[in-house]
Amino acid sequence: MTNKPTKATITFDNGAAPIELPILSGSLGNDVIDIRNLSKHGIFTYDPGFMSTAACNSNITFIDGEKGLLYYRGYPIEQLAEHCDFMEVSHLLINGELPNATQKQEFTRTITSHTMLHDQLSNIFRGFRRDAHPMAVMVGVVGSMSAFYHTKGDIHDAQSREITAHQLLAKVPTIAAWSYKYNIGQPFMYPANHLNYAENFMHMMFATPCEQYVPNPVLAKAFDRILILHADHEQNASTSTVRLAGSSGANPFACIAAGIASLWGPAHGGANEATLKMLEEIGDISRIGEFIKRAKDKTDTFRLMGFGHRVYRNMDPRAAIMRKTCHEVLNELGLNDDPMFKLAMALEKIALEDEYFVSRQLYPNVDFYSGIVMRAMGIPNSMFTAIFALARTAGWIAQWSEMNADSGHKIGRPRQLYTGETRREFVPIVKRT
Ligand code: ACO
Repeated sequence: MTNKPTKATITFDNGAAPIELPILSGSLGNDVIDIRNLSKHGIFTYDPGFMSTAACNSNITFIDGEKGLLYYRGYPIEQLAEHCDFMEVSHLLINGELPNATQKQEFTRTITSHTMLHDQLSNIFRGFRRDAHPMAVMVGVVGSMSAFYHTKGDIHDAQSREITAHQLLAKVPTIAAWSYKYNIGQPFMYPANHLNYAENFMHMMFATPCEQYVPNPVLAKAFDRILILHADHEQNASTSTVRLAGSSGANPFACIAAGIASLWGPAHGGANEATLKMLEEIGDISRIGEFIKRAKDKTDTFRLMGFGHRVYRNMDPRAAIMRKTCHEVLNELGLNDDPMFKLAMALEKIALEDEYFVSRQLYPNVDFYSGIVMRAMGIPNSMFTAIFALARTAGWIAQWSEMNADSGHKIGRPRQLYTGETRREFVPIVKRT
């Protein structure tokens, strides 16, 4: 067996002196070539999309896409989804350890006591058009928290960062639920602090002042699991956005708003919404063959939404958990014979047996099942990404805190390969052709 290399050397074909670079190892995962000093030699690296670039070191989340592994702080996602609730997982992500019983009680009490919004924030909601997408409202309202909760915030102080984390974790569900209530023209429902985190969100979405909402424990558990599975996912686009925005010392609420904006895209958080739209478009089991054919056709831009993943080349471990949850929810609601869910299950079966999908390792991803679960729970498609955002807030704030706790972190400032005009002289407007 060969030893792991500890140095790499870049050689040049023009006789310039070679450059030796150290290779760093983490506790798990790929080694990285440390190129930090490369710019002193007058050369940069080129990596659009950061396909091969580690932009930070982090202790929070580990993914092995080949093996289908996802760990939060070292714990496999399967164990956390089975044995924990979202409060414990949030504590784990933010503080580094699972809480003991007393710590959990204290953490939950703190989050619960911050769930109300500053009353004036309701005016910000009322400035939006009623038909605004909930994600548009969330970007605006979460960003506006910087104008309400800024006075004590010192990002270099650990206690201030902790308070910010608590405020976000507590208030983002209220903001997400209110963005839905505003959209459908119903009064905002205040948080109900006797309920747990998942139940409280469902109460704020589904209760009205005239009708109490009694959370179904199976659905509340399923919702809590959706939150756990989406809480963090290493240096994805929205998390990297939060880190990049925060690297300049920007206000944390503004940084989280930037993360929400990034998550909104269909290539990132919008996939579960897109899956449901696709199922509606397919419409009937008899048309699955036609759409599978289109998905394979390289001249057609159509892709089977909810299948495949950039990082997981094996089964997405979250998908297996969500698949089980999906069946629990459909059974609970007696929806096994609902045409849309029968269609989804038939599509899953056909795709899992089809040579095209099998040979390319295109398995259903977590979004395929989470979209079905949320639809069964009565959550409208437009709220799917907003719920993803409220789950991912735990990861974003953990990553933001980790970066700010590191006194050596630098402002994020990528380089570029300039391909524009070289120097040219100014031409007065009267002489321009
Ligand atoms: N339907 C049909 N064919 C597909 C699909 C799909 N959903 N996904 C990949 N392929 C095909 C590609 O055409 C390619 O075929 P080829 O080898 O014959 O050229 C092959 O599978 C490999 O795919 P890539 O394009 O290399 O995979 P990539 O990593 O670029 O894409 C992605 C990953 C974007 C997730 C893709 O699978 C996709 O578009 N899926 C549907 C959207 C979706 O569900 N996204 C959610 C991701 S989960 C999340 O973001 C939380």
